[in-house]
Amino acid sequence: VIPENSSIVIFGASGDLTFRKLIPALYHLYANKQLPASFAILGASRTFYSDESFRDKLRHSMQELEETDPATLDAFMAHVHYQSFNISDTHEYGALTGRLDELSEQYGFTQRNTLFYLATPPKLYNFIPACLAAHGLNDESHGWKRLVVEKPFGYDLASARQLDKDIHAHFAEHQIYRIDHYLGKETVQNLLVFRFSNAMFEPLWNRNFIDYVEITGAENLGVEGRGGYYDQSGAVRDMFQNHLLQVLSLVAMEPPAQINADAMRDEVFKALQSLEPLSEDDLHNNLVLGQYTESQVGGKPLPSYRDEPGVAEDSRTETYVGLKMFINNWRWNGVPFYVRTGKRLPTRVTEVVIHFKQTPHPVFGKNAPENRLVIRIQPDEGIQMSFGLKEPGAGFNAKAVNMDFHYTSLEETQMLTAYERLLLDALKGDATLFARSDAVEACWQFVEPILQYKDNGKALYGYACGTWGPKEADQLLERDGHAWRFPCKNLTDTEY
Ligand code: BG6
Repeated sequence: VIPENSSIVIFGASGDLTFRKLIPALYHLYANKQLPASFAILGASRTFYSDESFRDKLRHSMQELEETDPATLDAFMAHVHYQSFNISDTHEYGALTGRLDELSEQYGFTQRNTLFYLATPPKLYNFIPACLAAHGLNDESHGWKRLVVEKPFGYDLASARQLDKDIHAHFAEHQIYRIDHYLGKETVQNLLVFRFSNAMFEPLWNRNFIDYVEITGAENLGVEGRGGYYDQSGAVRDMFQNHLLQVLSLVAMEPPAQINADAMRDEVFKALQSLEPLSEDDLHNNLVLGQYTESQVGGKPLPSYRDEPGVAEDSRTETYVGLKMFINNWRWNGVPFYVRTGKRLPTRVTEVVIHFKQTPHPVFGKNAPENRLVIRIQPDEGIQMSFGLKEPGAGFNAKAVNMDFHYTSLEETQMLTAYERLLLDALKGDATLFARSDAVEACWQFVEPILQYKDNGKALYGYACGTWGPKEADQLLERDGHAWRFPCKNLTDTEY
């Protein structure tokens, strides 16, 4: 289904997200004929550009990012426009409405369908919806009006609630699309298909058969010039509160009755609502925060986090978080979920590992191979199943072997990027893969004790760049007789 004719207004159009993610995603959708027959993209921001100079800048940045077909790029750029105005001044929104009227005439829109994308600094998220409403741009009587809100959705529980209240004062929930780009990843969605379209896994997907679960979101990059933002945020707010808890909810949720926005998000919410609140003891013993220190990786010197531009010299912001947590419900009671994310780890990998329990009686000796399922979200998207087979030869020794599926082996491997999928869904009015306000709030509620605790002197461990984080995080599992899976064999495999 191709979305209806519409305008896409990007607030914060002169920023990095527009250049790196939004315009490339829209270009690909256009090149693959997935955008409507008639559409206008309007960049809005205070920086001055004419339509032409904005297009030139975008064209240049697209050509640096990837190989593009010049004719397709030109045809796409003809749909791109720009309006400079002060988006933090409600009086200036007349410039926006005027421009939207003009474009509507130019493109012959019969309905005024408009997607507003907030890619601005978060402090404007409360304000822009009010300005849009003051100019009637939330009114759906002549076409839908949708608001896409980038992360971070709030800074803590109180600010997230406030933001929700402020936006809801002007837009109804069905108009609000909170982006968590992890939900746009093909392999994150595959968690649902894998779980709920195969009769052979779901019966085992519970505390009776699963011993423990690992979720890793590792990055080899540091803060990459985003020190100013990151230092106010840290790994808990930047990755854990949103991306990793969303992934966890898809691993843990009950099967929805249908795949639609309400049914799906009801189940996601229920899973998040069942997270066992962190106790004082958990904060002391089951939580590890770390920060990367200056080190050499593969002969290359890397600065410590505190030496990154924009970061305070005595910063106590965590660049690593590891947590052992539980889900209090019928399915998961007592099964530990070990979740970790960090910057400057040996490689970039996001994966979920399901460790199944041992057989009740070790007929073939005590070193029976473990049954394990590795769901690789990125890179090398795929699924690996480990199980035991007889070692050839005399006796009955069991040996672990793997069955490994790689997405690249599918004939049709052209996957939509996360932003392509989510922009397309928002244009179609499908909110299934967007976070609902109750889920966002549940995630903040869960991490709130961590935020308070880290501000109140929680230990922060140093770890060298290119290592898997503080050794204290290894102990989280060792204590329970487990170990983190090390997805990358050795440092020569890393992308440093
Ligand atoms: C973003 C975070 O939301 O996700 C970044 O702000 C992080 O710090 C990024 O690097 C990771 O996304 P991906 O898609 O590269 O795994």
